[in-house]
Amino acid sequence: MITKLQQLEEEAQVELAAAQTEDAIQTVRTKYLGRKGLLTGFLRNIVSVPEEEKPLFGKRCNEAKEKLSAQIDAALARSAGGKKLASLRREAIDVTLPGRGIRAGRLHPVIRIRREICDIFTAFGFSIVEGPEIELDYYNFEALNIPKDHPARDMQDTFYVDENIVLRTHTSPVQVRVMEKIKPPVRILSPGRVYRRDSDVSHTPMFHQIEGLLVDEGVTFGDLKGILTAFLKRVFGEDTTLRFRPSFFPFTEPSAEVDIRCVICAGRGCRVCGQSGWLEILGSGMVDPAVFENVGYDSEKYTGFAFGLGLERIAMLKYGVSDLRLFFENDSRFIRQF
Ligand code: PHE
Repeated sequence: MITKLQQLEEEAQVELAAAQTEDAIQTVRTKYLGRKGLLTGFLRNIVSVPEEEKPLFGKRCNEAKEKLSAQIDAALARSAGGKKLASLRREAIDVTLPGRGIRAGRLHPVIRIRREICDIFTAFGFSIVEGPEIELDYYNFEALNIPKDHPARDMQDTFYVDENIVLRTHTSPVQVRVMEKIKPPVRILSPGRVYRRDSDVSHTPMFHQIEGLLVDEGVTFGDLKGILTAFLKRVFGEDTTLRFRPSFFPFTEPSAEVDIRCVICAGRGCRVCGQSGWLEILGSGMVDPAVFENVGYDSEKYTGFAFGLGLERIAMLKYGVSDLRLFFENDSRFIRQF
């Protein structure tokens, strides 16, 4: 019987040595030391052991169980330690790796252009003034000589908040607000967001404009031409060719749109300039006397000019961006390029 016990012990040793995982080790424990385990039940064989060997057999049985139990505990401890070590190895941090740098932000192209234009006009003696984006119909239209039945007020172009309140469709209402408050001379530039019910490849419902206004005694169309020419040459380069083309705005008379020679094809005609060789850049004109009357300026004494331009359009031409929507998607890969 003792030999049989030794055999059993040896088998248990072999199996325990082969058990690699915690589960496998527990299986060995159940097989030999569990309630119905082979070693647990082995003591029952005592009936067939000769009387004088019984004490020794009993002792050997208990020793075998204790020994195996201790070995299993040790094996479990080793496997838990190994697991811990493995996970420590896996999660180890390599402190010698270079860090992930923080990327510096870049200014949005529209903001860059806005700053650039504001700087140019500040140097010309203009002050920067801002006005509300939610505007009274009066300032957006009425005071600018745009009567109730004017096509610019069409529901298709204007976002109405209610009958008397709109999202401003241009930055021109700021000129009226300023002229109501101060007497000439006036030299202001007002940048900001404007809204129109328009949405396609070249139109977005919100975009940015800059409005300029200069009022004083004896201001002429020559002043308008001089200032706008100097301005556009600073933005697009000294050798930029301009043309002033007669146009119409309800709040200026006479009015002119200013074109520059196409920056893409240099006037030969391309897709960007619609084969015309010219690019429309801004609207301008001498302030209509009717607008001066509305703000209480003496239109016999004062004259002035105003102009307005779209910032996205300037940014597109200056930086060669072909799709207006890129400005509003906030993709950092786009913005990083400026
Ligand atoms: N407000 C006009 C527009 O949005 C532009 C403009 C401003 C034209 C000032 C003339 C004078 O189209």
